[in-house]
Amino acid sequence: MATVGELLNSGTARLRRAGSESARLDAELLLGWAVGVERTALLAHPEAPVGADAAAAFEGAVVRREAGEPVAYIRGLKEFYGLAFGVDRRALIPRPETELLVAEAEREVAWRLTAAPRPAGTPDVRVVDVGTGSGAIAIALATLLRRRRMLPEVSILAVDCSADALNLARENAVAHAVAEEVVFREADLLPAAEHPFDVILANLPYIPSAEIERLPVAASFEPRTALDGGPDGLAVIRRLLSALPSALAPEGTALLEIGFDQGAAVEQAVAGLPGGWTCRVQADLSGRPRLASVERAAVGSTVANSSSAHSTGPGPTRPSVTGAR
Ligand SMILES: C[S@@+](CC[C@H](N)C(=O)[O-])C[C@H]1O[C@@H](n2cnc3c(N)ncnc32)[C@H](O)[C@@H]1O
Repeated sequence: MATVGELLNSGTARLRRAGSESARLDAELLLGWAVGVERTALLAHPEAPVGADAAAAFEGAVVRREAGEPVAYIRGLKEFYGLAFGVDRRALIPRPETELLVAEAEREVAWRLTAAPRPAGTPDVRVVDVGTGSGAIAIALATLLRRRRMLPEVSILAVDCSADALNLARENAVAHAVAEEVVFREADLLPAAEHPFDVILANLPYIPSAEIERLPVAASFEPRTALDGGPDGLAVIRRLLSALPSALAPEGTALLEIGFDQGAAVEQAVAGLPGGWTCRVQADLSGRPRLASVERAAVGSTVANSSSAHSTGPGPTRPSVTGAR
């Protein structure tokens, strides 16, 4: 019977030969999954024997990883915002950089709930997650708001054009006990019957079509509709922006994840919207432009497409945002 250490060493060597840049970590995650323990437990007991069933499961997992399949799909699991999400080929694997969007969404909703008194009968804050995929953004936000006891005053809609992705998202909502709080809908972008929204969240596809083939092989396992943003990557995002004048409430905010090199193009698209709008692009933790905040320009303010322009809406000014450029 092979030991933990032997399987880790042979698996790591095979995955390294197959081109994985994280071969050791991959092997640890996959063996932990096969054995049913955390990888830290493996590291503590390299001499432990691995049973035949677990060794066979590990072998199958290594074969799949050698073919380029992402570790998250093999394990059926990805951690996002400290929560475990079920993932498979029905939807994009949630990325760490999208956690910035969730953090800003929580801040935005909390501000709306606390900036001014809310007498009985005040309508819910209406939030939509457009292109929800696995449901990561909507579900993480619902979980955060529940912890802060804010969820009863918020309604969350999660939309995707993929029925498969929505099924996965519903499963994740059940797993995180927010299936009653998040409404899932199959639609193209923002369903007109649901307008207007106070907060629009979107991590839509933004990779230029020609770049898709050049992505690491792992991305070829993800749905093309989750990645392909058209010729310059902004086809879907531009359509969303053009829907904002009717879909976003007068004091509403749209938070859009964008590619690190798309800030100027998004600002330009926002500047072309009718009626006067502002766009501010924030950087992610690695300092790269990542999140566009789009709002109607405040009456009397200079309409601009620069990162410094920002309407603040009624009530107290929001706290300043870390990473804004
Ligand atoms: C980049 S993935 C993001 C998934 C998830 N929000 C996340 O952050 O992990 C983009 C998602 O948008 C969906 N999508 C693409 N075009 C859409 C459209 N026109 N209307 C609604 N959803 C769309 C895709 O099916 C996919 O699930």
